[in-house]
Amino acid sequence: MPENPVYNAIIARRTIRKFLQKPVPKETLSKLINAARLAPSGGNRQPLDYMLIDDAALGAELFKHVRWAGYITPKGIPKSNEMPTAYIVVLEEKSVKSTSVAYDVGAAVQNIMLAAWEENIGCCWQGAIDRPKIREFFRIPADFEIDSVVSLGYKAEAPVVEDYKGSVKYWLDEAGVLHVPKLKLDEVLRWNKF
Ligand SMILES: Cc1cc2nc3c(=O)[nH]c(=O)nc-3n(C[C@H](O)[C@H](O)[C@H](O)COP(=O)(O)O)c2cc1C
Repeated sequence: MPENPVYNAIIARRTIRKFLQKPVPKETLSKLINAARLAPSGGNRQPLDYMLIDDAALGAELFKHVRWAGYITPKGIPKSNEMPTAYIVVLEEKSVKSTSVAYDVGAAVQNIMLAAWEENIGCCWQGAIDRPKIREFFRIPADFEIDSVVSLGYKAEAPVVEDYKGSVKYWLDEAGVLHVPKLKLDEVLRWNKF
């Protein structure tokens, strides 16, 4: 096993919006939900459920209700030969009382994305989604909130990190490579004093 696999996956992981048209085995998809289920949860209440869509026709319907890469639209939208091959709809069970659902979602989805990365699978976590349409099409009962969608598949792009230089907007270069600005370590780290 390579050294520091978790740290390396954290550093290397980027949002992926272009996918190989090769299905992800069901066993691998289940593994991602297993990673989510074991994430930390406030009060250990565990309010989250996951609807996994790997059927192509259902995926094509869901694709209509998710938004891609606001800063580079329409170029950031996957083309017909770059579509996600699976989707995870993150659901919150309202009857499970929790004061930390958003934190729980963050931890669970990050677990999904890191476990996926290790399998060469890229993810795009999407909050810009049409919840009423998704609810209607998949007949999601009213006692579940639709939080977000993770669109995923084997990676067909390799975005790169850039040092932040005044703008948080990611961009595509002439070769179609996605560049993602991130704040530098010394801009966010304060040792021993504010
Ligand atoms: C809560 C949340 C919601 C997001 N929603 C969307 C979305 O609706 N569509 C999209 O294309 N990307 C979405 N993203 C992905 C971000 O654009 C991406 O994380 C950011 O540009 C940084 O890139 P990185 O993930 O490669 O570090 C979302 C990310 C987070 C954390």
